[in-house]
Amino acid sequence: MTVTQATPRKATPTLPDAQTVTSVTHYTDRLFAFRCTRPRSLRFRSGEFVMIGLMGDNGKPLLRAYSIASPSWDEELEFYSIKVPDGPLTSKLQHIQPGDALILRPKPVGTLVLDALLPGKRLWMLATGTGIAPFASLLRDPETWEKYEQVIVMHTCRDVDELTYGRNLIEALPEDPLIGELVGGKLLYYPTTTREKSAHMGRITDNLTSGKVFADLGIPPLNPGFDRAMVCGSLAFNLDVKAILEAAGLREGANSDPAEYVVEKAFVD
Ligand code: A2P
Repeated sequence: MTVTQATPRKATPTLPDAQTVTSVTHYTDRLFAFRCTRPRSLRFRSGEFVMIGLMGDNGKPLLRAYSIASPSWDEELEFYSIKVPDGPLTSKLQHIQPGDALILRPKPVGTLVLDALLPGKRLWMLATGTGIAPFASLLRDPETWEKYEQVIVMHTCRDVDELTYGRNLIEALPEDPLIGELVGGKLLYYPTTTREKSAHMGRITDNLTSGKVFADLGIPPLNPGFDRAMVCGSLAFNLDVKAILEAAGLREGANSDPAEYVVEKAFVD
């Protein structure tokens, strides 16, 4: 893991909606996180996304949707991204440095919010890859811990190194000055890999349908009476998990019509 947190090499740019990158952390050759300044006026709900990007070679902004990974009380904003070698944005974005300009449209939106769920006892956060980003925000929101008796995070990546961002975040929660005490014994973390050997293996879908995750954690199976779920991963993952949740009797909710689960695609791929 390499962290770059240097004195800004450029002054804050004067582009409209421009923010300044403050730090960049590379986790693997496929994954990195970065932080930037936050517009004073930007208010968002944990789990929402914004459009961010860079100025393209044609002089037009090149923007993509990114979940905000930082909590709503943070002075800066954090994002977690994949690096796609020939991706129009991420092939450039992966080279950003502290001091660089980042375009940010300050209009947060999204369905992966606590308001879109009916009250419940257990909250499942189901993520693959960079789909952990919105949960990085939600896990540091006191409301998450006030609303639920148990929060279960299932995160699956191909390799162990790809779990690092989520693992660091989860391990820091009990020490967090704001929410550390709220977390108490409420958090269950179930990271798995699919292509490298680790303590727990397999796809989230398989571990749910086989019942392995319930057996390993010693908890009852999915029950629409008390389980709520938030899902964020690739389109195929989201569809497969939706089918499992629906079969267990959970219904998809929205801001305007809260129910038992919500889904968002992990955008940049
Ligand atoms: P697998 O290695 O079996 O494909 P990616 O890095 O391609 O975005 O994938 C992230 C993780 O999501 C991988 O561990 C991958 O498992 C898993 N995955 C991909 N598609 C699905 C799916 N439809 N259902 C469950 N897990 C999936």
